Amino acid sequence: MLYLGVDLGTSSVKLLLVDETGAVIKTASRTYPLEFPQPGWSQQNPEDWWKGTCEAMGELLQGVNSAQIAGLAVGGQMHGLVVLDEHDQVIRPAILWNDGRTAEETREMNAHFGREGLLSLAGNIAFAGFTAPKLLWMRRHEPALFAKINKIMLPKDYLVYRLTGVHSCDFSDASGMLLLDVANRRWSQALLDYCGVTEAQMPKLFESYEAVGTLRPEIALQLGLPQRVVVAAGAGDNAAAAVGTGTVGEGRCNISLGTSGTVFISSDTFRLPPLGNLHAFAHADGAYHLMGCILSAASAYGWWTKDVLQAVSDAEEQNSIADDDLGRNPVFFLPYLMGERSPHNDPDARGAFLGMSMDTTRAQMTQAVLEGVAFAIRDSVEIARALGITIRESGLCGGGAKSMLWRKIMANALNIEIQVPELEEGAGYGGAVLAMVAAGAYPSVRAACEKLQSRRRCYRPDPAIAARYEARYQVYRSLYPALQTLYPTLAWKE
Ligand code: XUL
Repeated sequence: MLYLGVDLGTSSVKLLLVDETGAVIKTASRTYPLEFPQPGWSQQNPEDWWKGTCEAMGELLQGVNSAQIAGLAVGGQMHGLVVLDEHDQVIRPAILWNDGRTAEETREMNAHFGREGLLSLAGNIAFAGFTAPKLLWMRRHEPALFAKINKIMLPKDYLVYRLTGVHSCDFSDASGMLLLDVANRRWSQALLDYCGVTEAQMPKLFESYEAVGTLRPEIALQLGLPQRVVVAAGAGDNAAAAVGTGTVGEGRCNISLGTSGTVFISSDTFRLPPLGNLHAFAHADGAYHLMGCILSAASAYGWWTKDVLQAVSDAEEQNSIADDDLGRNPVFFLPYLMGERSPHNDPDARGAFLGMSMDTTRAQMTQAVLEGVAFAIRDSVEIARALGITIRESGLCGGGAKSMLWRKIMANALNIEIQVPELEEGAGYGGAVLAMVAAGAYPSVRAACEKLQSRRRCYRPDPAIAARYEARYQVYRSLYPALQTLYPTLAWKE
């Protein structure tokens, strides 16, 4: 049989067709626009996700015997607020995970409940990207639209709704709403009340690998799929990518360099970081994980090379950077182009280059961008280490993982062994694995991961380079505190 994995990302939707041995048969993708209506705001139109998915599906299924397709699951960008009215029509553009408009509401929520209070209710404190502060923002700034809300869901759940007609959500993605009691896997009445919403407006909760339903007959016809295709609840993209890279079981780590950058640490039991400075979320295998998230990773590199340099090719930009240059760069880059989530929780933070002189080269600035992202990720790794978690190796996935140079920088700047799976399709591949479990091809996510794990290429740190990066990281970590008080004054105001 065949299985469909969908990665509903921020820049594109990617579809994968996988057989039950884990071989990828075919892929197709479509891009869609991302709107920044104000600096730090970030929105997308859910209809574009659906249109992109249908178009990519048409391409994917050409020449495929679709009668063989047994299951489908989506790994999706997390936290985005999708609101539907009583006719299941989208009320406003989705407010995304990297949208910083909710600084005020985030502060209010943290102050109202206090850190201890929120940790005991949700296992997490409020971050500007989470869904609950977005609801508070809507209630304050768009009360007429807020009053129309009949269903609240996350991006991938909108696709699942269009496919099946069921309003569902899985525990990994629901964890990032700040409306879920993560440890006990149920909605928190106190948090729903605070946001002025009811449980009836929330989607039905499932484990990621559970079947939500099958395709609506008219959608099966439209897409050219059998109606009996089982649709699993799916997962947040990081949990799905973790499944896709075999990051299940106690202490295993995966780093993703996509539009966002994340450090994902799988855990058998629910662990609560006492300061709430790592996210404590449910995993897609039925267990839990800790996660740190930076808002601009491969997107910071894309901004620098495509938007600023108008570079012809990545290879050309990176070729002149030699091993001998690593850890010797006088230039620093802070990747806070959309503000920052982990660990600073500061929507006002902005990107910065520091340390340039008249002899600074284009290559040094490019290297600084790659290093700045690695250091920003290391900030979260350091928090995990301070909690007593040993991280000696990690998987690496996402678009950024395709660069040999970035792999080497990550290994040395974090001083860990980096393992890159042969299959780089993290979240989409994870979706396909969840679909296999939902359709009964494997008894559990872990059993599937054990069977399907792909070979990995390893990048070990070089002691001399890692020592140089250690010294540079100590400088890097002093830069945000030095700039922090300036950030709110930077925006131009008439
Ligand atoms: C995780 C997060 C991002 C998005 C990106 O908390 O906000 O990784 O899921 O799609």
